Amino acid sequence: MSNHKEKIGNNHEKVETNNFLMIVLILLTVSLGGLVEIVPLFFQKSTTEPIKGLMPYTSLQLAGRDIYQKEGCHNCHSQMIRPFRAETLRYGHYSVAGESVYDHPFQWGSKRTGPDLARVGGRYSDDWHRIHLIQPRDLVPDSIMPAYPWLEENLVNAEAMPSHMKALRAVGVPYTDADIAGAVDEVKGKTEMDALIAYLQVLGIHLK
Ligand code: HEC
Repeated sequence: MSNHKEKIGNNHEKVETNNFLMIVLILLTVSLGGLVEIVPLFFQKSTTEPIKGLMPYTSLQLAGRDIYQKEGCHNCHSQMIRPFRAETLRYGHYSVAGESVYDHPFQWGSKRTGPDLARVGGRYSDDWHRIHLIQPRDLVPDSIMPAYPWLEENLVNAEAMPSHMKALRAVGVPYTDADIAGAVDEVKGKTEMDALIAYLQVLGIHLK
């Protein structure tokens, strides 16, 4: 018995005195723990299936989503309502994974210099957004949000949309051939402002 204990003690000492072995074993343990938490999520319905009524972004909304990312809106705005009373009272129903299955990449985030935008769709009129994006301080005098007046002048790159939608289809977004064929016409002549507002107006409207 004492022999056995000694042996365990020796092994333990080996691990604790060998930096390399210690690092390898820590990495192994952390990786295993991570996998046990993460892998089941790939197979759970609640995280992989779209919620009822969820539609892939139209060509115009998708172009707006690109502008949202290009302009760095995500640096100040999260799109994830946490399941706490203070959050749901302010923003509405907490976010669920099934709302983001067509988002590649998702925009959840935790950086909130401005309010969460997960359910901003329908909260304001298109005109409100237009004025607010051109000059936030015209509507919210104390706002520290930057102005984005050029969105009114830049046109959306319509030709890029079909390949963009095909790429999304390759990762599971159910675009039809007709969606892709009509993608250019839908955004032709539209400004970045039109596209961004179309995107904002659809955020979170499927679960109220
Ligand atoms: C420097 C941080 C910052 C950036 C970048 C930023 N915002 Fe904001 N945003 C704010 C702040 C602060 C507010 C709250 C004051 C206000 O309404 O202007 C706000 C408010 C908003 C609101 C109103 C939300 C509500 O529920 O009242 C919308 C919509 C919005 N931002 C969209 C955008 C979009 C789209 C972009 C990118 C083009 C953007 N923001 C970039 C900080 C930012």
